[in-house]
Amino acid sequence: MLLEPYHLVAPLLLILMAAGRCLAATGGGGTSDGRQFAYNGFTAANLTLEGAVVKSNGLLMLTNGTIQTKGQAFHPSPLMFRAEANGTGAVRSFSTTFVFAIYGQYADLSSHGMAFFVSASRELLSTASPGQFLGLTDTDGGNPSDHIFAVELDTLFNAEFRDINSNHVGVDVDSLVSLGSADAGYYANDDIGSFQKLSLISRKAMQVWVDYDKRTTEITVTIAPLGVPRPYLTLLQTTIDLSGVMQSTAYVGFSSATGVLTTRHFVLAWSFALDSPAPALNISALPALPPLVSPKSKVLEIVLALASATLVSAIAIGFYVFVRRRLKYSEVHEDWEVPFGPNRFSYKDLFHATEGFSNNNLLDRGGFGSVYKGMLRKPAMEVAVKRMSHDSRQGVREFIAEVVSIGRLRHRNITQLLGYCRRKGELLLVYDYMKNGSLKKYLHSRNSPTLCWSQRYSIIKGVASSLLYLHEEWEQVVIHRDIKANNVLLDSKMNGRLGDFGLARIYDHENTAETTHVAGTMGYLAPELSRKGRPTPFSDV
Ligand SMILES: *[C@@H]1O[C@H](CO)[C@@H](O)[C@H](O)[C@H]1NC(C)=O
Ligand SMILES: *[C@@H]1O[C@H](CO)[C@@H](O)[C@H](O)[C@H]1NC(C)=O
Ligand SMILES: *[C@@H]1O[C@H](CO)[C@@H](O)[C@H](O)[C@H]1NC(C)=O
Ligand SMILES: *[C@@H]1O[C@H](CO)[C@@H](O)[C@H](O)[C@H]1NC(C)=O
Repeated sequence: MLLEPYHLVAPLLLILMAAGRCLAATGGGGTSDGRQFAYNGFTAANLTLEGAVVKSNGLLMLTNGTIQTKGQAFHPSPLMFRAEANGTGAVRSFSTTFVFAIYGQYADLSSHGMAFFVSASRELLSTASPGQFLGLTDTDGGNPSDHIFAVELDTLFNAEFRDINSNHVGVDVDSLVSLGSADAGYYANDDIGSFQKLSLISRKAMQVWVDYDKRTTEITVTIAPLGVPRPYLTLLQTTIDLSGVMQSTAYVGFSSATGVLTTRHFVLAWSFALDSPAPALNISALPALPPLVSPKSKVLEIVLALASATLVSAIAIGFYVFVRRRLKYSEVHEDWEVPFGPNRFSYKDLFHATEGFSNNNLLDRGGFGSVYKGMLRKPAMEVAVKRMSHDSRQGVREFIAEVVSIGRLRHRNITQLLGYCRRKGELLLVYDYMKNGSLKKYLHSRNSPTLCWSQRYSIIKGVASSLLYLHEEWEQVVIHRDIKANNVLLDSKMNGRLGDFGLARIYDHENTAETTHVAGTMGYLAPELSRKGRPTPFSDV
């Protein structure tokens, strides 16, 4: 797609470096004279590890996926690469074979490579740079005094090293600029020796053979998938006289490095020999590689990351909206309210009916709360919604019961109470909407038309009629307790209707009202109420 495969050059450099200082070359892997060793897995191997680890199954992991690190493993003691102890003899022939695997981060994006090295000094290795330098050197041009000979397997394309591509094998001396290189692959042992390409970062185990012949000064490198017999045709052969490179002794081992990508480098087996072919590896005794999950695609990963980020945000937003809605429209429901269900309005409906209790819909703001005009959708009707704060712990049950009872009152001079809604600390009462508002407006406001006497008389008659109904005619005695002009509403035909039963109390006809507190509006209280402290139908009158 849009991602052009980066040309990351991951060379596998086999750098052989001869350092002629000390004589004490010792062997490993059970050999007696220090000339050769073989490890089929590294469980019992005596290796010096720098950043690398040997896993419990014997797998040597040079780098573990951490970026900008290097990992090295080498034979603990330097090997004697020249015949004479004082370093003046000819460079000896040597041979090595090993099995490696590179776990790139992405299938379609090349990663950092690894190398098998022979180096004169450990110090040089420990100061070398990670990234494209493979932990072998830290200068682009190389340094002849480094005394490093290398054959590289490179999985990055570095123009500065004049790499041929991002998947090649190379042979280098003192520098990552290869003296010879070839595409990673092998010539099959068939009739025509057809070339089979190999991907170094494919996470598949591959075997490498490297040989130096002291007579011809020829280096050969061959590579093949693990299990495929050594190809007759070598992949790469270069003539390099190592006598100018090798000193008397050198360390042999592996180096790999990561840069910005989390590559893992593994070595499964390794054998080495001076003066003779490297001991054969036992393919059936190798440690297992980590599970071969198919390498991820960078493109797929980006798409997946975007998709999951989108999904997570969508869920978060959805959750936020859900919680907000829950909070916005939350109500208080209790078990005892179930019988009053038909009288209950949902807060959401009232909220929408009053356009969110907007100030445009505000009809009146009184001592007990604000009244809003609303337009219910189902059934479509105009209502007045009184919204008042309410301490839900105080006799709310009785109050709601009375509200519902009052809702059963039917009289043409009473504003019908349609129902209620409860929220935390809030109570909403829903009434019929009275088009002409409250009587107070006509009596006390200069802007309203003056009521003529016949209208006034009719209104008073209406209120009186409703009081008679409340006190005498209905099945129970309802004491309104707050009769005043503000609570008398005028319908479209200017009929007076008693409204706002917010304080009303209901009593049986036999019993006298008993209450411990005085309710009502100062200035409208019956005089005896303050003395007796108990409301009666007379206090309404
Ligand atoms: C590993 O090799 C070093 C150097 O030859 C030696 O000093 C050390 O004793 C060896 N360790 C083991 C466990 O063989
Ligand atoms: C990976 O290797 C680096 C360098 O050796 C080390 O610092 C880091 O702790 C290792 N991480 C894990 C998870 O093993
Ligand atoms: C190195 O050793 C060889 C044989 O032991 C000897 O012939 C030669 O002179 C020595 N060279 C030096 C520079 O010591
Ligand atoms: C190779 O390894 C297998 C499993 O460990 C073992 O059974 C077999 O004997 C080994 N072969 C040789 C030639 O050592």
